[in-house]
Amino acid sequence: MIKELLLATTNKGKYKEFEFITGRKLIFAPEIADLIVEETGKTYSENAMLKAKTWAEKSGLPCLADDSGLEVEALDGAPGLYSARIVPGKDENKISWLLSKLEGNKNRNARFVASLALCVPDEFILICEGFCYGKISETPKGLGGFGYDPVFIPDGYEKTFAELGFEIKNSISHRANAFRKMKKFFDTLNNRS
Ligand code: IMP
Repeated sequence: MIKELLLATTNKGKYKEFEFITGRKLIFAPEIADLIVEETGKTYSENAMLKAKTWAEKSGLPCLADDSGLEVEALDGAPGLYSARIVPGKDENKISWLLSKLEGNKNRNARFVASLALCVPDEFILICEGFCYGKISETPKGLGGFGYDPVFIPDGYEKTFAELGFEIKNSISHRANAFRKMKKFFDTLNNRS
């Protein structure tokens, strides 16, 4: 059984989302700041694996990590892997960048992608990818969530992630969908003696 599971993040928002998604207590240890790994991979999975492996090796604990991004169809998949650092500064700057790039463009199709890596030291690394499809709104709306949430309207809804609230977002998000794929294996691990 995985009694203790470290989440490789310094982001309190992500930590809360992951506790809801996994339905279990996770260890949040942002003070291990020197473990922060450069995201040098060419894919979300490479980055997630790198994070999970480094944090697990340094802490000696099983570790869950993720890497994620927003891919916009009309921008050939940008900002993608660079979603967190496409422009410097606050989330508002990234949203302004995105809306100005899409100004006048009718194609608002986009998807969030998340790759989750579970590393149990000296045993294995498991990677699962999840998606959430939707559209980019014309203007930012809502106060919840983080990042691009105020401009992302998931398919089947008319409100942005930031308006829909914590529970809806975290039931249909890219991270929730990635964890759904991992869950069966996760449960087997938790049931082993
Ligand atoms: P990372 O996975 O921590 O590297 O973050 C990737 C970036 O993608 C974040 O900084 C956000 O800008 C964006 N992003 C990833 N997931 C979400 C989400 O659920 N909502 C809004 N933005 C997100």
